[in-house]
Amino acid sequence: MQNNKSTLSIHGRKDKLYRGANFPIYPSTTFAVEKSDDYDKFIGDEEEFYIYSRYSNPTVRNVEEKLAALENSEAATLFSSGMAAITTSILAFTKSGDHIVALRRLYGMTYRFLRDIAPRFGIETHFVEESELYAVDTKYPDAKIVYFETPINPTTECVSIRKVVKAARKTGALTFVDNTFASPINQNPLDLGVDVVLHSATKYIGGHSDIMAGAAVASKKLTREIQEGLKAFGGCINPIDAYMLDRSLKTLKVRIEQQNRSAQRLAEFFMRQRKVKRVLYPGLPSSKCYNTAKRQMTGFGGMLCIELGNLDEGKRFCDSLEVALNATSLGGVETLVSIPVLTSHIKMSPEELKAARVTEGMVRISVGIEDTDDLMLDFKKALEKIKA
Ligand SMILES: Cc1ncc(COP(=O)(O)O)c(C=O)c1O
Repeated sequence: MQNNKSTLSIHGRKDKLYRGANFPIYPSTTFAVEKSDDYDKFIGDEEEFYIYSRYSNPTVRNVEEKLAALENSEAATLFSSGMAAITTSILAFTKSGDHIVALRRLYGMTYRFLRDIAPRFGIETHFVEESELYAVDTKYPDAKIVYFETPINPTTECVSIRKVVKAARKTGALTFVDNTFASPINQNPLDLGVDVVLHSATKYIGGHSDIMAGAAVASKKLTREIQEGLKAFGGCINPIDAYMLDRSLKTLKVRIEQQNRSAQRLAEFFMRQRKVKRVLYPGLPSSKCYNTAKRQMTGFGGMLCIELGNLDEGKRFCDSLEVALNATSLGGVETLVSIPVLTSHIKMSPEELKAARVTEGMVRISVGIEDTDDLMLDFKKALEKIKA
């Protein structure tokens, strides 16, 4: 079997009935058995036996197999959203009295889930800086899960996956990484010893800003637990969305490669602009996390962050764009800009913003696949609208 990522994401299960180029959509919620005794197969955990689509479905399974292959894993589970994947996976491995150690700078809703909702079930989270993640074995030896993201939103700073795994392994804590910003093309945390990789598949994997989906990728053993959680919490994806994801996956590698190239050129372009105070992108050799990113990523990604003088300048810049859209979310074919203090980091206190390393003048850019020169011109004209 050819196992390059572009091939793996195109060729999954075959349509054996009609030899169609695409694996079909099975919209059925229920599947009949030939004989009543066949239900024994389900009890026996038979993988290729479908009875009810909240448990599993052939169209969904095809995409799960592709995602598992792209993350060099044995198995994967699809969900109706990234948050369904994240919350179900966390709850699948925790019980009352357990502790989680999490990076302080997380996607906002994940942070709020751990801060406000998980404690209602007796699960407490210590929010820490990267340096404490690297020493989790000595500082938090009882942690059940060590949870982090890399690159981090919105600053695109990177956490060393190897260092966290090394520390967590000493105590047997499970490591969870949200790999949404990198995508399975640019980073494979399971190869570095991580236990569970999470994705908001709404972003790069879907890639067209028209599918809500999530994924948890892990060994077969851990996936069994995650799937038990899925069955109970019910955040399953529907087969039509799963088919849309299958279609999106077929262009994932070419999209990501173009986004990597374009983001690199745009980061270098912004470095040359006087009105831009700071450019944050892991692919810039001047970036603090360049070496970490180089060690663990095969591409630096399509997310970058620029810092303008203040919030008014950020607004003027975003409101002047003609190609890029001023919208939250990321990972689509269209370039999006957003001001973190008005979107992902809204209503945070000055102390919280400081801890998140977010400033008022920051603009986050999710680079799409439009022509890079057109984007550059759009950004150049928008910068001209800012007073000198
Ligand atoms: C890094 C990250 N993780 C998880 C999520 C949640 O994903 P979803 O919106 O698909 O539930 C998001 C959404 O923006 C995100 O940016």
